[in-house]
Amino acid sequence: MNNVKIDYNNMMTSIIGEKEGISDSDIANLMPQLKTAFKNVQNGRGKGWEGWMDLPYNQDEIADDIIATANSVRSWAESFVVLGIGGSALGPIAVFQALCHLHHNELPKEKRNAPKFYVEDNVDPDRMAALFDVIDLKTTCFNIITKSGATSETMAQYLIILDALKKQGLDVSKHIIATTDHSKGNLIKIAREYNLKTFYIEDGVGGRFSELCPVGLLPAAVLGIDIKEMLRGAAAMDKACAKFDLAENPALICAALKFIAMERGKNVSVMMPYADSLKYIADWYCQIWAESLGKNVHKDGSPAFVGQTPVKSLGVTDQHSQVQLYTEGPFDKVITFIAIEKFRTTTPIPHGAEDIPDVSFLGGHTMNELITAECKATAYAITKAKKLNYTITLSELNENTLGQLLYLFEMETAFVGELLEIDTYNQPGVEEGKKATYALLGKAGYDDKREELKNAPAKSEKYIVG
Ligand code: PA5
Repeated sequence: MNNVKIDYNNMMTSIIGEKEGISDSDIANLMPQLKTAFKNVQNGRGKGWEGWMDLPYNQDEIADDIIATANSVRSWAESFVVLGIGGSALGPIAVFQALCHLHHNELPKEKRNAPKFYVEDNVDPDRMAALFDVIDLKTTCFNIITKSGATSETMAQYLIILDALKKQGLDVSKHIIATTDHSKGNLIKIAREYNLKTFYIEDGVGGRFSELCPVGLLPAAVLGIDIKEMLRGAAAMDKACAKFDLAENPALICAALKFIAMERGKNVSVMMPYADSLKYIADWYCQIWAESLGKNVHKDGSPAFVGQTPVKSLGVTDQHSQVQLYTEGPFDKVITFIAIEKFRTTTPIPHGAEDIPDVSFLGGHTMNELITAECKATAYAITKAKKLNYTITLSELNENTLGQLLYLFEMETAFVGELLEIDTYNQPGVEEGKKATYALLGKAGYDDKREELKNAPAKSEKYIVG
């Protein structure tokens, strides 16, 4: 695995010092727990909610179908719009940003070589209206993605799109592709009613672990991304993560270090890629980390109240907004830097302003050198301030290394979930808000919740300003 490297020196006592650093014996002490966590994850492969671990291997036919469908979409669609939220949106956004031109939608058609791409995850009315200003329905393909087939936000968007397509007399089955569960939920019923091309999210693949199934693969293939290579990358990472060997298993060592840090009150996990292309990998990571690990009970029902708050940050941009806090603020964080060794392009910085030495020193370098130096320099400054950090370096960003990176974070999350002895795959904490929304909008079956809301403590004007 020499194209994805983890350098965790800056987590260790040898560099960070005794007080904040993690020692070899801290890791050795964790070994029994780590062994159990590793076994539980590996033994669970393909069972229960660990169906995602099979995705690098069991999708040959599906990938062919996805590529054929994507090619057909590419032949007529000017725009491809994903309607989905959470795990049904963040992966497609992250992969688009990672592997497509950074101004994809603004490129002229002949240079773009793929439809324009939009992901409508929020239900902000202004954004939905704005979408209609930039697409032509006649040449737009919509991919409605929902594992549960029941998510209100996505179904609201579906109703709006369906209505718009019908009003223009367009063929719904040409313009909508569904990605959902085989049998559960409402989208599958709709897909059957309208005879929609449908891709399935297998049992055992939860929303936030679904990027490497049709949820992420279809949008990626429509964009011309080599999805088989992404899966090969994931498989390579899976092989490395199947060894109980901290020197070879990147997810296991990252999980061990972050778990030890969490046990010591490092409650914040900053994800800071140094590349615009990886900006939304940080968003995707935030979901998998927060929703999987933020739990109030252990598996045995005892109180837990665990989790590490993920924060997205972008190098170098956020050096000018957040790094002051990371360097001088509380000792409550682990910072993960992601660096790219070889960018797709080299952008030289020309000579000039020779009479202003503070500017002229930049001339003759490249932006590649500058961003790399700034990543190293920030890690150095943070380390000097005795704040835990480590760096993941990709030799370059491509389908293979991206597949590896996504799978690395999935495995790391699974290992930490086991170390915390929680259910990594549920999200009961988001259900209460969903039920209250249903009640407020008059959904059948939510009368009790409506009553509960009516009886909620009345708000006092005293505490409202303006
Ligand atoms: O990880 C999860 O399961 C959630 O975050 C879901 O991805 C999100 O709620 C969207 O759900 P669905 O795909 O069922 O519409």
